[in-house]
Parts: sequence; C-alpha cells; structure tokens
Amino acid sequence: MKKIARLPKHVAFIMDGNGRWAKKRGLPRLEGHRAGIASARKVVEHLGDYGIRYVTLYSFSTENWKRPREEVGGLLKILEESIGKQAAEFHEKGVQIRHLGHYHRLPRQLNKSIEEAVELTKNNSKMILNFAFNYGSRLEIVDAVRSIAAQGIPPEKIDEKLFSRHLYTAGQPDVDLVVRTGGDLRISNFLLWQSAYSEYYFTDVLWPDFNAEEMDKALASYNQRQRRFGKL
Ligand code: IPE
Ligand code: IPE
Ligand code: MG
Repeated sequence: MKKIARLPKHVAFIMDGNGRWAKKRGLPRLEGHRAGIASARKVVEHLGDYGIRYVTLYSFSTENWKRPREEVGGLLKILEESIGKQAAEFHEKGVQIRHLGHYHRLPRQLNKSIEEAVELTKNNSKMILNFAFNYGSRLEIVDAVRSIAAQGIPPEKIDEKLFSRHLYTAGQPDVDLVVRTGGDLRISNFLLWQSAYSEYYFTDVLWPDFNAEEMDKALASYNQRQRRFGKL
C-alpha cells in the first residue's frame, strides 16, 4: 500500500449523488442508495487499512424527511437492512459503531437495529464509525444547549471544551477532512461545530462510484494542505 505522510485522524463524508447515479443508469433512486451502501463499506475498510480511527458517514439528514414518502420509507428500510447485516462484520473488524442524531421519528425496528449495533460493538477500539443518521448539526447544537441548561451549569463554567462534551461526538477529535461527493459545494447542515477548522475535499464523483482510488486522491490532496489554525 502507498504510504501517506500525514493522515487525517477523523474523516467525515457527505455521501451525495446516489439518486443521480441511479438515474444515469435508468434505475430507481433506491438502487442508487443500495449501491451507496456498498461504496461506504469499501471506503471504511480502506480507511481502516490506513489505521484511521475516526470516520463519520452522513447517511440521512433531518432535512431529508422533506423528500417524497416512498423515497424516505425505502431509504430507511435499506439502511435498517444494512445495519442489521453489517453490524456483525464491523464487530469482527474491531469497529465501534455510534449513532449521531435523533431517534425521534425513526421507525421502531430501525431504532432497535441501531441500538443493537451500538451495544454489540461498544467495547471495540480499532475504529469509531459514526452513523450520522436523522442528523442535523443545528439540532445537535440545540440539543447540547438543552443538555447544558438541564444540568444547571452556570454560564461562567461554559466554555468550548465543555460545550464539545455535550455534542453527539463527545470525546472524539474534531474532523480533519470532510469529503463531499456529487459535485455540490455546500455543507448541508453537517458537523458545523466539529468542522470549524477542517480541510474540505469536493469531487464530482457520485457516491456509488467513490472507491479506494478516489479516497487516495482525497488523502493525497489533504496531505498537501498547509493547516495553519490561525498561526503563521
Ligand atoms: C445522497 O444521495 C444520500 C442521501 C441524501 C440520503 P442523494 O439521494 O441526495 O442523491 P442525489 O443528490 O439526488 O443524486
Ligand atoms: C446531504 O445530501 C445529506 C446526506 C448526504 C445524508 P442532500 O442531497 O440531502 O443535500 P442537499 O439537500 O442537496 O444540500
Ligand atoms: Mg443529494
């Protein structure tokens, strides 16, 4: 395997373009989502080979509820099937699965599958794989504020560190690299706090076509960035 000098600790993906991928092939959109899951599995495995320990996958946003009922229903069903099937496989590889997002509004069976996957893998430490699922960054920030208020924490005790500990990603490092496939140049309510100093990699490649080779291009690009964090 190619050596990369400087690897990101935490890589996050906006896995976009499944629908367009399917359309190009004359397939129903849901086939694009199925292909997208296969892609995610391979990319996560590839990052595991590099020893990258934190990976986040944006798989369903709080805004995605606005899509037609059939698409939402079909998508949730595909995600549920794949979590059920893949949990054991991730477990074997030492991956700890976490869920970033709300359980609210999700079908009961899906919540159960997520809870089971999280429970099964909770002691694994090779990689933390976050499923941002029914996730919205503004909602996450509001949830953090609520949790701080509910604990009656006095204002002078609230700082950036404490705030981070109330986010869904508590205890994890900030995101170093955000990859968005599908050609759009936006964040779509993803990890606003955690990506304050991330490097961004945008590609026109549609998510189901994104693979190890495309990942290496993103890592090579990251490797060339000079991260200054405000310093000189
Ligand atoms: C990304 O693919 C997956 C989700 C948002 C769930 P899209 O479904 O947004 O695909 P496009 O953008 O329509 O091609
Ligand atoms: C972002 O993709 C959300 C996920 C990948 C889950 P969208 O396709 O929903 O984003 P917008 O609506 O085009 O910004
Ligand atoms: Mg999209």
